Amino acid sequence: MTTANGRTADYPIDTMFLERWSPRAFTGESLSEMDLLTMLEAARWAPSSYNSQPWRFTYARRDTAPWSRFLDLLVPSNRGWAATASALVIIVSNPMMRPPGSDKDVPSSTHSFDAGTASGYFALQAYKMGWRVHGMVGFDKDRAFAELNVPAGYRIEAAYAIGRQGDPASLPEVLRDREQPNSRTPLAQLAFEGSFQA
Ligand SMILES: Cc1cc2nc3c(=O)[nH]c(=O)nc-3n(C[C@H](O)[C@H](O)[C@H](O)COP(=O)(O)O)c2cc1C
Repeated sequence: MTTANGRTADYPIDTMFLERWSPRAFTGESLSEMDLLTMLEAARWAPSSYNSQPWRFTYARRDTAPWSRFLDLLVPSNRGWAATASALVIIVSNPMMRPPGSDKDVPSSTHSFDAGTASGYFALQAYKMGWRVHGMVGFDKDRAFAELNVPAGYRIEAAYAIGRQGDPASLPEVLRDREQPNSRTPLAQLAFEGSFQA
């Protein structure tokens, strides 16, 4: 059993999996492009079906020209707290892939799954560098398509706020109460030997 961050794992995993969580209170300090690209470099090394690497990353760092364009894409409930993040990343995936030895693209059945793996690598690399990452589905994907110049047919997967963890007191009361690591469904309800058990 491993315990960290007020969380207890059922099995003896590395503590980083318990220590990573998604806060909303950030300090607003600046994040260098070098550090952000280091996080995305880890994402780049995620495995993908046929090594198709369908992930694409668009990003804006605080106090740079694209920042307000990215922030404005978020729904108000996310925009409120994410305004003190240090960077915003939107992960997009290419639904087409080129099988090895072929000269033709075919639809990929795993592009979103692969991009999800990359996002996990990204968040864990950020954690190891002392930064925190908070995923967001709450943003305007139609506007993101147009405003971020996303190629037609690509899938916009998720947005991520990256920041240094801040003081929960900076949050509105309703979020302050939720500003703590949450738990998980027991593995016994998720992992089945032999066949699925509903
Ligand atoms: C793809 C994705 C979308 C999410 N969307 C939102 C969101 O729009 N707003 C929000 O406050 N949290 C969002 N979350 C955060 C999740 O609620 C959070 O990751 C989950 O409760 C597990 O908590 P933890 O990351 O602290 O371990 C999202 C997370 C992921 C991975």
